[in-house]
Amino acid sequence: MSELNPILAELKGSSYLSTGDLSREQFEALLDLAIAQKQGSASYGKPLDGKSVILLFFNPSLRTRTSMVVGVRQLGGEEVLLEIGKGVWNLEHREGIVMDGANAEHIKEAIPVLASYADAIAVRCFPSMSDYEEDKTEPVLSAFSKYSPVPILNMESATHHPMQGGADMMTIKEKLGSVAGRKVVLSWAYHPKALPMAVPNSFALASSQLGAHVTLACPPEFLLDQSLMDDAKARAEAAGGSFSISHDLNEAATDADVIYAKSWGSLQYYGRLDEEVEMRKAYRDWMISGDVMSRTNNGLFMHCLPVRRNVVVGDEVLDGPHSVVVDEAENRLHFQKTMMSVYLNNG
Ligand code: CP
Repeated sequence: MSELNPILAELKGSSYLSTGDLSREQFEALLDLAIAQKQGSASYGKPLDGKSVILLFFNPSLRTRTSMVVGVRQLGGEEVLLEIGKGVWNLEHREGIVMDGANAEHIKEAIPVLASYADAIAVRCFPSMSDYEEDKTEPVLSAFSKYSPVPILNMESATHHPMQGGADMMTIKEKLGSVAGRKVVLSWAYHPKALPMAVPNSFALASSQLGAHVTLACPPEFLLDQSLMDDAKARAEAAGGSFSISHDLNEAATDADVIYAKSWGSLQYYGRLDEEVEMRKAYRDWMISGDVMSRTNNGLFMHCLPVRRNVVVGDEVLDGPHSVVVDEAENRLHFQKTMMSVYLNNG
């Protein structure tokens, strides 16, 4: 790999936990490098030659798992795939607990042990969905960061999915030339159950960091965390963009350059999943249809996948010419390779 841009060289040896840790200049440079490496005008090289990366999953995955395995190998490294509870001890993360339950090993020992074998640890650890105040503190990801002497890479935690956020911004930049100034709608969509908020949080934050005009479109019960929205608004305005909220999907979609659909759970009903599921039935028709997309500025349709057809989005949109969901998924590989080539580079 050719010499790193000095503002990216500052990231060597760091953990990749949230795009919010990046300056706008670093984020733009990372995305530009990812696009150049994908297009072949810059080389990835083999920055992981002789290195091992542990991929530790508490939760299922199709894209993240596959793209990380392939990405580590393509960069010259070896991955070690661990699925908690499947041939790997269940891990405890709480401090001071009497460990007489199902969890056989504490993170305090497990993480330093794993770090003694490898050069980085990537982790997927979804929220409990029962206690928001606890989930908001990122109890598992924070414990990994606290006890690991090697970089931690966030493969989706309780509140953020920065690998997805990076790939999403890369996709917008590739397709539209820039994120700055684009009208981007992050739309809640109906789903039969409450899902985590990591993807919408990361999309809202990342697009705001890069100066988009972001509209969060959702029913009143589905606002994102207030501190996340405040942060996104401040960052969007500092970057020449804006952050607004709409409870009218058709109005929000008008003249949009991007519709990013995702379902997530209600903070007002957090931990009361049965009540939440009843409440959300009132919003069954909150779906991205061809009619919604026809109001946009030939807008892109985006979703992180997996997606429920004709629940979250209509077939006519997902199969239509403006859907870039497969490009987003492909860019997970390219963005993650670039991120690892920068963060795990000792050169
Ligand atoms: N978008 C995403 O993270 O997909 P997986 O859950 O399949 O990894």
